Amino acid sequence: MRKLALLFPLIPIMLTACGEEQQVQPPKADIAAGKATAQAECAGCHGLDGKGVAPGIPNLAAQNEDYLHESLMAYKEGKRTHAALRDLTSHMSDQGLRDVAAFYASLPPVQTDQTTKAITLSPYEKGKALSASCASCHGEDGNTTRPGMPSLAGQQPLYFVSALQAYLHGARHIATMEESLRGLNRIDMENLAVYYASQTPVRRGAPTVGDPAKGEPLTARCGGCHGAHGVSHDASTPTLAGQDAEYLVSAIKAYRDQTRQHEIMLSGNTDEEIADIAAFYAVQESKAAERGATTVKELSDKCDRCHAVGVENPAMAIPKIQGQDRDYLIKAMRAYRDGKRGSSLMHNMSLPYSEAVIESVASLYANQSAR
Ligand code: HEC
Ligand code: HEC
Ligand code: HEC
Ligand code: HEC
Repeated sequence: MRKLALLFPLIPIMLTACGEEQQVQPPKADIAAGKATAQAECAGCHGLDGKGVAPGIPNLAAQNEDYLHESLMAYKEGKRTHAALRDLTSHMSDQGLRDVAAFYASLPPVQTDQTTKAITLSPYEKGKALSASCASCHGEDGNTTRPGMPSLAGQQPLYFVSALQAYLHGARHIATMEESLRGLNRIDMENLAVYYASQTPVRRGAPTVGDPAKGEPLTARCGGCHGAHGVSHDASTPTLAGQDAEYLVSAIKAYRDQTRQHEIMLSGNTDEEIADIAAFYAVQESKAAERGATTVKELSDKCDRCHAVGVENPAMAIPKIQGQDRDYLIKAMRAYRDGKRGSSLMHNMSLPYSEAVIESVASLYANQSAR
């Protein structure tokens, strides 16, 4: 009873609130007026059918009307930056913006061009294809069988990319490999990183040199960065577990001799102790750092919670991304990632950060039919 009594005084307030909201309902949009504006001001880039005339220009046809209106406001207010749109929208009234938004939203969706349909390959598949030229040294799945050669299976992906860049920029040197690295771009490197990070490292037997039991206590200060027993949980710090012992010895000596730079001084150990440390890490069990084969699918499942066909959310104007121009989608995702376009916290958490995954997700949605 008491609770009810407390609620009663609120009811009239709620009713007036509803009434007020009805009063500020925007006037109806005028599609014909919107079409005239589109013809005069927008068609040169967005077409009169709402299809972007060149790569990088978004399709507007059949886009969510509230979303179009909000984007135009964002350009007008400078929250999204684009010189031409800022100019155009600054002269337009709110009603004018609503009209042109309503016009484009009313158009039938742009049909995705089946003939130019790009093949959608996941970063994993692309990396796997590229890894063929590495297999002779690093092993079929990144588990090397050649002493002195580093394993790549299960390696952390950001470390992997920075290692490749170190060879390309000459900070690390290995003449035999530089040949196969030449011609790889950043996205190729990320694709390779996803592929190798997703492979399962094999368990190694004890090396002929070094004593794992003696090595263990010497690694007390390594675990903070390289993880317990050398299994790293940080994408930019290499996993040492399961690595080839001879390679580990040469890496630690390279740091000791300052031909490679390390976070902490690695100069306090004798050659025998270094062999023991290497033996300890070599026999530890390691694991894959990523599950790249499913990355794009898992991501798009997350995106579809908001962007899937038929999802309506009264709290936010969600744009349609199916059948959208691929270059534009890439640009938009980069803008969110680089903080150049504001978005909700939830959005930021779900969007990919790597170029390779951004490209794949963009291809995936660009190739779905528009609705
Ligand atoms: C000079 C070419 C050009 C003209 C003219 C132009 N646009 Fe655009 N428009 C673009 C480009 C490029 C973008 C993508 C900008 C970005 O990355 O934010 C864009 C983005 C948009 C967006 C955001 C779409 C989305 O999916 O977020 C809307 C809405 C839009 N334009 C509407 C219009 C309207 C309405 C007009 C006419 C009043 C117009 N544009 C005129 C090139 C143009
Ligand atoms: C001719 C043999 C050879 C080929 C082919 C080769 N590599 Fe290597 N790679 C090596 C050697 C040797 C090292 C160790 C060099 C060193 O000590 O810095 C190495 C090191 C690496 C490292 C650093 C590993 C670490 O733990 O720091 C990465 C990453 C790598 N290679 C990736 C690749 C990729 C990707 C390809 C194929 C595009 C490739 N390699 C092809 C021989 C090869
Ligand atoms: C403060 C963090 C930190 C600590 C502590 C640390 N490391 Fe590292 N280690 C790194 C980072 C970051 C790299 C990658 C450096 C590079 O790019 O060459 C690395 C690289 C290595 C590599 C090369 C791996 C490869 O695949 O080429 C070895 C070997 C290594 N560390 C051994 C050790 C040992 C042994 C210890 C303990 C005595 C240790 N590290 C302690 C951060 C750390
Ligand atoms: C919580 C709901 C939600 C999730 C999850 C979500 N989005 Fe969005 N997305 C939005 C909203 C709302 C906007 C409009 C924001 C704005 O105006 O910048 C948007 C905008 C976009 C845009 C810009 C479209 C355009 O026309 O400019 C792209 C691209 C995009 N999202 C891709 C993705 C991808 C890829 C994922 C999954 C990795 C994802 N989104 C997950 C709600 C979501």
